Amino acid sequence: MPTAVAPANIAFIKYWGMRDTHATLPFNGSLSMNLDTCLTTTSVTLDEQLTTDEVILAMYQQPATVATGRPRERVVAHLDRLRALAGSPCRVRVQSANTFPADAGIASSAAGFAALTLAAAAAFGLPLDTPALSRLARLSGSGSAARSIPTGYVEWYNGDDSTSLAASIAAPEHWDLADVVAVVDTRPKQVGSAENHRLAATSPYFNTRLAELEPRLPATRAAILARDFEQLALHTEADAIAMHVVCMTQTPPSFYWNPATLAVMAAVRAWRAAGLPACYTMDAGANVHVICEGTYRAEVERRLQALPEVQFTIANRVGAGARLLPDTP
Ligand code: DP6
Repeated sequence: MPTAVAPANIAFIKYWGMRDTHATLPFNGSLSMNLDTCLTTTSVTLDEQLTTDEVILAMYQQPATVATGRPRERVVAHLDRLRALAGSPCRVRVQSANTFPADAGIASSAAGFAALTLAAAAAFGLPLDTPALSRLARLSGSGSAARSIPTGYVEWYNGDDSTSLAASIAAPEHWDLADVVAVVDTRPKQVGSAENHRLAATSPYFNTRLAELEPRLPATRAAILARDFEQLALHTEADAIAMHVVCMTQTPPSFYWNPATLAVMAAVRAWRAAGLPACYTMDAGANVHVICEGTYRAEVERRLQALPEVQFTIANRVGAGARLLPDTP
């Protein structure tokens, strides 16, 4: 029974807007780091007795339940894709557990679909090389899952179906960065990323952001490679704001930030102005990811926990990509 563990990831340059909904192709390349404590563990067991796939999900702080509706459909659609590639008719039992809140802007679907891709590819005997797995994870529909396959700091290239995959640009040890997630809301988001990816190009600022990314993406990659926190902070915050502006100005508009999000952003800006090197970014959710170098992690955690808007924090270092557990046959 193959069991895979895969990390969530946080993007410095966001994937926002889907150019091809069938092949999950983005309009722009993106850059991220894997998180070492926000993980999904998934086992896939082939079972010839089953007539349909059985999907059991144990979400954060909730008992394991048999998935139904849209969450089950997304998993089964991805299994069908992998089954077709393997030429196997066999149904499977999927058991998956998360260490962090789902659907709240902490990339739970990236971790979930990366782990499912690896465990199911191993169960069906498909190739397990990183480029092939990253492409397959992208096809799940949760494009950022492609970035949870390679290790450490990762770039997802904007290409065609065979070249749009993610690769590691640096190992976790390259730079000791931390992502302290300030959880201000654990409820699932109202509008999923998939719908907003389709609407993104209706924003009058969509092409402006894409034009900004032409210099910003290489500058962000260079900042990571040079371990230049000041430059990384500048570009990360600018792209987070640009992505959310696109979202807030699409038709119909969609808002992920709430007053608590803005309060944490203001606090981080004030801390940086007073000499604490930290910056913020937000995915498709209200929670704020505060990025800093490892030496400042405890101080950032302490300050975030003291803010009345913050329910709790989840501290991460840079993590490995998706991997099979060692006891997997
Ligand atoms: C804002 O469709 O890849 O996190 O939101 O997890 O379903 P889920 O994933 P996906 O969209 C990711 C959007 C983003 C930016 C990013 O991670 O690049």
